[in-house]
Amino acid sequence: MHTEPTTFSAESYFATQPPPPTLQDDVDQVRKFVEKHAREGRSVVLVTSGGTTVPLELNVVRFLDNFSAGTRGATSAEYFLKAGYAVIFMHRQFSLQPYSRHYSHSTNPFLDFLDIDPPENEAVPPRISVTPNKRTDLLQVLAAYKKVHELGTLHSLTFVTVNDYLWLLRAVSQEMAILKRKAMFYLAAAVSDFFLPQQKMSEHKIQSGKGNLSIEMDQVPKILKPLVDEWTPGGYIISFKLETDQNLLLPKARQALERYGHQVVIGNDLHRRKFEVVFVSKERAKDGSGVSDSFAEDWLRIDLHNNVAAGFAEKEIEEDIVAELVKRHSNWIENSR
Ligand code: PMT
Repeated sequence: MHTEPTTFSAESYFATQPPPPTLQDDVDQVRKFVEKHAREGRSVVLVTSGGTTVPLELNVVRFLDNFSAGTRGATSAEYFLKAGYAVIFMHRQFSLQPYSRHYSHSTNPFLDFLDIDPPENEAVPPRISVTPNKRTDLLQVLAAYKKVHELGTLHSLTFVTVNDYLWLLRAVSQEMAILKRKAMFYLAAAVSDFFLPQQKMSEHKIQSGKGNLSIEMDQVPKILKPLVDEWTPGGYIISFKLETDQNLLLPKARQALERYGHQVVIGNDLHRRKFEVVFVSKERAKDGSGVSDSFAEDWLRIDLHNNVAAGFAEKEIEEDIVAELVKRHSNWIENSR
């Protein structure tokens, strides 16, 4: 399948690619959620999480995908909720979710936590109970989950394709604009950089009888620029940068800040991301010759092995990431007064 590549701007993308059918319903619900929390004076964070797919056919049988399980996003969402934020959790369908994530891994299957208690007599059905040594942990997770539901501070939205993601991101960020500086954007999703426009997709399943297949994909427009400049003025925006070559992390993070002008890039290496990240931001320095901008780079590391060896529950780096961001976001809000 040879096609001419097109260069899409954000504008031409939205003018030519169709919105997902559920967009309007999703937006209506987000509007209510944002208005409620704006009235109650709460800060709201949009957490994006998981990978996007790139369909190869209109009647989709095949698609491209990526590795992201949504661990970073789901874990961070929990810590934001704990810190008093309202959270819009925009995630890839069936990826990890706050709270249920503790029991959805194959290493921690939920059914292993349950016992069947023998009935007192044959007329009574057997009862299910939680294995005694799992009760404390489960109680903590369940209590936090119930509290969040009671307060109405978590709103979940799903995407599957990169097209769903882009339409939702634009619509949700526009709804969040009323929050001004109280809006935070935590873009942890792993979004595809390439896609196949609808106009170039085969309607039916691509047939294998013709030998090799080559597909030329178009580049997904850089969406951070309009997000920062137009969709949500005043919002505190954190993007992520994933690399597999550690040497590229800092240059790429700095480049993203220069290009998009947002507040923080969190750099993470694929294999070290669970225990090491770097916050890159712009710093304004004053000296005798005037004011100049430079980059501040703050590494955040946790010692996984010592924690586990000492018998502590495994520390999650997201706890420290979120604590640092909450601090920076409060300063950002304060500085606007
Ligand atoms: O889910 P896990 O398995 O826990 O993994 C977490 C993670 C490694 C995926 C996460 O921590 C991470 O690094 N996510 C960003 C991956 C990346 O490098 O994205 P990028 O360079 O393609 O994009 C840069 C930033 O812009 C990202 O914040 C991305 O969410 C955002 N983006 C990118 C393209 C696009 N069209 N829209 C976007 O919003």
